[in-house]
Amino acid sequence: MKLQIHDTYAAMSAAAAALVMDTLRAKPTALLCFATGDTPRLTYELLAARIQEEKVDTSQCTLIGLDEWLGIPPENEGSCDYFLHHYLINPLGLKPRQVHLFDGLSDDLENECAMMNGLISDKGGIDLALVGVGMNGHIGFNEPGTPVDAAAHVSALEPITTQVGQKYFMGEQPLHSGLTVGLKQLLEAGQLIMIANGEKKAPVLRQMMEGEISNLFPASLLRQQVNGFLLTDSAAATMLTTQKE
Ligand code: GLP
Repeated sequence: MKLQIHDTYAAMSAAAAALVMDTLRAKPTALLCFATGDTPRLTYELLAARIQEEKVDTSQCTLIGLDEWLGIPPENEGSCDYFLHHYLINPLGLKPRQVHLFDGLSDDLENECAMMNGLISDKGGIDLALVGVGMNGHIGFNEPGTPVDAAAHVSALEPITTQVGQKYFMGEQPLHSGLTVGLKQLLEAGQLIMIANGEKKAPVLRQMMEGEISNLFPASLLRQQVNGFLLTDSAAATMLTTQKE
């Protein structure tokens, strides 16, 4: 894993956007798997602006959503679907055939996961996954204890995840479960880029980087990954004793 500690959230976000630009230029047909959340907002704004300014071809790439809240409709502004449309799919004009997001309202969740698994395997795996980290070390909705060989699945969410998740919504939501791309698919991605900023993530990053490597803290699994990147701002890195590369 490569660790980059940037001075500011803006610098971290610019570096993450640059890595995505490199992938898009090297492989216009790339399969991209993108997280939602507060962390990647600026990365996506910068990415969309650079793609437009530098006229990078996005007509051949495929975008999949990392995860989705079960029971939340796409028109809810706290849904992952809404977020990805707002920040990337609409600004870039991606066509429906290029986009595959979990349907949080599906009445056939097995099929929902099978479709995502089929798409990832048809494309030969994810080329670049951009993820955040949850307060319990989750990646996407791969909560602590998720098997490392998990493909897309329905995840029962821990109380901390459902409590923190309320921040995305206008009013209190009955959050309990999520759909997520699996740890195996993320760990096998060509590049797995995690971004984390702000002092509230400092204890999370300390456990990730200096605690035991275990699926009981999924983010720690990145440490063994040659395809893994951790990009942080200085506030999130304050509790790390490890050196940046
Ligand atoms: C959420 C999402 C993750 C996200 C993480 C961090 O629960 N399921 O995909 O990366 O938690 O979110 P934030 O960036 O808002 O801190």
